[in-house]
Amino acid sequence: MELRKFDQNDVQVVIPATQQKSRISIVGLGYVGAVSTACLASLGHQVIGVDIDQAKIDQIARGKSPIHEAMLGETLSKGVIDGLINATDDLVAAVQETDVTFVSVGTPTAADGGCDYTYIEQSARAMGVGLRQKDGFHVFAMRCSIPPGTTMRVMAKILEEMSGKKAGRDFGICFNPEFLREGVAIDDFHNPPKTVIGTSDFRTAEIMRRIYAPVDADPILTTVEVAETIKYVDNVWHATKVCFANEVGRLCKPLGVDSHAVMDIFTQDQKLNLSSYYLKPGFAYGGSCLPKEVRAVQHIAEGLGVSLPLIGNLDRSNREQIEEATRMARETGAKRVGILGLAFKPGTDDLRESPILEVMAELNARGIELKVHDTAVTKDTPLDGLKSYVQHGSQGLGQLAGSLKDMLCDDVAEVMDNVDAVIVCHSNDTYRHAVSDGPSIPVIDVVRLFDDVPQTAQVNGIGW
Ligand SMILES: NC(=O)c1ccc[n+]([C@@H]2O[C@H](COP(=O)([O-])OP(=O)(O)OC[C@H]3O[C@@H](n4cnc5c(N)ncnc54)[C@H](O)[C@@H]3O)[C@@H](O)[C@H]2O)c1
Repeated sequence: MELRKFDQNDVQVVIPATQQKSRISIVGLGYVGAVSTACLASLGHQVIGVDIDQAKIDQIARGKSPIHEAMLGETLSKGVIDGLINATDDLVAAVQETDVTFVSVGTPTAADGGCDYTYIEQSARAMGVGLRQKDGFHVFAMRCSIPPGTTMRVMAKILEEMSGKKAGRDFGICFNPEFLREGVAIDDFHNPPKTVIGTSDFRTAEIMRRIYAPVDADPILTTVEVAETIKYVDNVWHATKVCFANEVGRLCKPLGVDSHAVMDIFTQDQKLNLSSYYLKPGFAYGGSCLPKEVRAVQHIAEGLGVSLPLIGNLDRSNREQIEEATRMARETGAKRVGILGLAFKPGTDDLRESPILEVMAELNARGIELKVHDTAVTKDTPLDGLKSYVQHGSQGLGQLAGSLKDMLCDDVAEVMDNVDAVIVCHSNDTYRHAVSDGPSIPVIDVVRLFDDVPQTAQVNGIGW
């Protein structure tokens, strides 16, 4: 639809649909809502801020910042002077008068430690009433940090019930996580680390994409649930980094090592340390370095009397991944299990601390017959390196080491044709074909063999 306006010389100008600004309402004028109100107005949108707290409404309406945040007062004040910002407690009317509603009400911790949805539910009821009484498409963009599934299960459900309309058809829903850092939020809004729009509805995606176009021409489009999850995962990751760095500090100080010098070098490595490497769910870590060095650091810390709960629990977390693979294999009820990929890493014949050996040891101890294939390991591969590993591994590992050679098969088909289930530990075309074209047996995938989440019950991914 075209919009017609008059410029300063009273000449009628046509504004193409792609340049039209959505009218936006923002529910909840706390940290997130106040910044969004100011910044979206600074992009030229008409913004109606809504809250139940009259003091905040008055402050926003007067262009005053309700919180201490660099440049927020100035940006709000400009928006008010430009006639782009209004504030009210009437959410029903705000929905009726706008095209898009950003939801940023509080989500405090509930008494049971979970997420308290009270404010989301309250605001959704009012938004649903507004939606019922208006014509035209309206988008609701959830911005609260909430458990995956909440946007559709709580907000969209109430909106549908209250309005009698259908999400995805009569109105749009998306999850648009907020990543701005307090203190530099205005700057981050204009230079975002990323923009994520979670929706399964093309029209909603387009409306949101247009709103963010001036600050991010290339937003990431995904599902509502992935967008909800990324917000939590990001923050858990940041917390992990803080605790990791602090544990490095606690380790270094009694050793007389400058922790900042260490981490300055650590952070310069953007190939392995600060990169996507090692950051995809998969199998347990193994090999000749990681397990040994995690144990060594834990040993040094114990000797120094330093507590490192994060580093000290890595081995436990790793063992649980091994136990999970064992549980998944046992759950198939298979009496004969195949292993595709034995070495800790594809393309090597290094079996030291290969985590699948622990799974095999456990299955072997339970009388399950094993058949193994590895593109780089044969009956002639020396297994001496296993000896030192056996000292640190489970009891069954020694027994397994003795019979490992007899389990090895030269041919993948020999494995696939003689087992009731298979565990795939290396990702390669040979194993993909074996799984896709071979016998229809349960597959435990610990390496994400295929790009997509398995659509059949036959393939069971360890973390997908
Ligand atoms: N603070 C941050 O930096 C940050 C960053 C990302 C995400 N988040 C998430 O965004 C959400 C909001 O966070 P915040 O820090 O801005 O919270 P906040 O507590 O500062 O503000 C929430 C506001 O919502 C208002 N409100 C509650 N119920 C309402 C209703 N029914 N109608 C209208 N207004 C209502 C409250 O009065 C309050 O002003 C939370 O889910 C939070 O986890 C916060």
